[in-house]
Amino acid sequence: MKKYDFDQVIDRRESGALKCDALQSLFGKTGLTPLWVADLDFAVCPDITEALMHRVEHPVYGYASTPDSYWQSIIDWLGHRHDFKVSREELAFVPGVVRGVAYALNYFTNRGDKVLIQQPVYHPFKMVIEGNERVVVNNPLKITEKGYEMDLDGLRQVIETEHPKMMVLCNPHNPIGIQWDADVMREVAHICRENGVVVVSDEIHGDLMLYGKPHIPFVSVSDDAKAITITLGAPSKTFNIPGLVSSWMVVKDEQLRNGFYHWMETNEFSSPTMFATIGAEVAYTHGEEWLNQMLAYIEETIDVVNKFLIENVPQIKMFRPQASFLLWLDCRDLNLSQTQLVNLFVDKARLALNDGTMFGKEGEGFMRLNIGSPRKVIVEALQRLADAVKSLK
Ligand SMILES: Cc1ncc(COP(=O)(O)O)c(C=O)c1O
Repeated sequence: MKKYDFDQVIDRRESGALKCDALQSLFGKTGLTPLWVADLDFAVCPDITEALMHRVEHPVYGYASTPDSYWQSIIDWLGHRHDFKVSREELAFVPGVVRGVAYALNYFTNRGDKVLIQQPVYHPFKMVIEGNERVVVNNPLKITEKGYEMDLDGLRQVIETEHPKMMVLCNPHNPIGIQWDADVMREVAHICRENGVVVVSDEIHGDLMLYGKPHIPFVSVSDDAKAITITLGAPSKTFNIPGLVSSWMVVKDEQLRNGFYHWMETNEFSSPTMFATIGAEVAYTHGEEWLNQMLAYIEETIDVVNKFLIENVPQIKMFRPQASFLLWLDCRDLNLSQTQLVNLFVDKARLALNDGTMFGKEGEGFMRLNIGSPRKVIVEALQRLADAVKSLK
């Protein structure tokens, strides 16, 4: 079996990488170790590069047709990896998951309508809702001794009093990496259906389940869920190809789907592009072993980070994720203001992480660390963090 090398440090500067290029504009300086935007610093499965190179060598880049094998590769992947049975007519291409959220928002809601999210959560949800002149209604996650939970009583109450038209669910939930339990999701689906709420379930992290835990698509939990759900997913996080911009949407319910898919097609929002489909198909067809090895590497890195923090920076605690390569760090025991906390990471430790408050005010005292880098880079970063924390005294 081929062994992929995730220890190789690849210089991404001057490759058009947002992670490096946006340091000055977002963090006010260059030369930081970039551990923020959710892509990986690992080389992709070589089959993807080979397939793209093969097509690049043909000198005509005209309008592309989309082969049936592209659609079949997604259907096969979802069935095989998640026991998620999807038919061709239920499936559509979307050029990015956030755009998929935006399309659903524009089609199913009107200006001024309320849309529910559960912060701390992936920040573009709020941006896309407010940018489209809809109103965010928040049902914050509850933090308990066991970790984060969804507040189902709060959800019912907020839905019955605020009457949102849509809910954007994150499953698994970024930034904490929670795969929601089927019972919890069944209750969410029940409350939403009773109250006429369409659910957009962002499942982009669903392929990145850790420790053998299965991903449960929200739409699969009940008939209620099936009737109201728009599911979004992508090979982009899974195989580290977000630059190819290849995502998909699944709508099981025919009534929910027909007008919406027609609107997307008419506006050419769901027309696949050449390199997106080539990359996605090869990834889904030949990338599974690469993915399994990559996830095993991430699991080991999580243990390394956890041990390091316990031994060297006990004031910072890590939430162990059930999915993905993002670690939600609880820094509240440092007793710093959010500005001081960000300065500690950026100015003292020279690290670029996501400020927890990006994900909502509930993120105060937290930072999000992307560990999708060679372990050497992560260990060096942790050492700089430990030194920076020591210098506080
Ligand atoms: C929950 C979630 N949804 C969507 C995205 C972005 O997806 P896309 O690039 O396909 O819009 C991300 C990227 O970090 C994410 O974490």
